[in-house]
Amino acid sequence: MKNILVIGAVGQIGSELTLELRKRYGNSNVVAGYRATKPTGELLESGPAEVADATNAQQVADVVKKYKIDTIYNLAAILSAVGEAKPLMAWQVGIGGLMNCLEIAREFGCAVTTPSSIGAFGGGTPLDNTPQDTIQRPQTMYGITKVTGELLSDYYFRKFGVDTRSVRYPGIISNVTLPGGGTTDYAVEIYYEAVKTGKYTCPLGAGTFLDMMYMPDAIDAAIDLMEADPAKLKHRNAFNVSAMSFDPEIIAAEIKKHIPGFTMDYQVEPIKQAIANSWPNNMDDSCARAEWGWNPKWNLEKMTVDMLKAIREKKANGLI
Ligand code: SER
Repeated sequence: MKNILVIGAVGQIGSELTLELRKRYGNSNVVAGYRATKPTGELLESGPAEVADATNAQQVADVVKKYKIDTIYNLAAILSAVGEAKPLMAWQVGIGGLMNCLEIAREFGCAVTTPSSIGAFGGGTPLDNTPQDTIQRPQTMYGITKVTGELLSDYYFRKFGVDTRSVRYPGIISNVTLPGGGTTDYAVEIYYEAVKTGKYTCPLGAGTFLDMMYMPDAIDAAIDLMEADPAKLKHRNAFNVSAMSFDPEIIAAEIKKHIPGFTMDYQVEPIKQAIANSWPNNMDDSCARAEWGWNPKWNLEKMTVDMLKAIREKKANGLI
């Protein structure tokens, strides 16, 4: 990877991944691609930024040509809960955007990664220790775009030799940019509410176990996979990766260790609950460990300390 385009650079993952890529590959070699919201602060000042809407093939191709891009991180997506409200838009962004990236990659010889998700499972998937290769019949539009994305990415690799690779992300927990409209967002919101108000109303019920990951591990996963020796990859799109699995009771208890007065109640949102019920409780990520050395560094205990510290600082600085 020498010249990298991040599509979706102002999103939850993009805003942190772009800066890490700049640290590793040089500021001027990583383009922050955005659609409606221009990057600000360090993201804008530390390197190039260009309008690159995934659904606009010409825009993406122009940026790829201008910067001689060889690797595209295509992070544009409509998350699961919003995708149920806007299914056509979820398809257009998820699959329209992906097809543009794949075609441009074929023409200009780029590698492409488009994250898949725990949302790619459902409809008969074994939910405990979910295997790498198993039934995938998701019933959300988000999940349908993710399974389709895995298949299309594998197809472009087999048929045209485009270097496509990806991970199936679990819920990503972070403190720089908020996620937007996912089922796993509660595991971010709970930390903010704990610091701001000392209480949280959870949209998922007790006992709803889901895979989760702290942002530094999510960033390592994306970069390490793109750097992996292709000769060792038996899979391509997409690898199960996980770092921890918990339900609302467990994360609340962990927060209570640091904020003893913290309380949580439940107001279950049926759409989110149904989505969560169809997703793995915990994935088997042994293929990622064996094929490219996946090895997460953050667990719930360490992450909670770090999240609360970061959010308390934001509060002290009047940012939240
Ligand atoms: N975080 C995503 C969502 O909840 C899952 O990949 O939609």
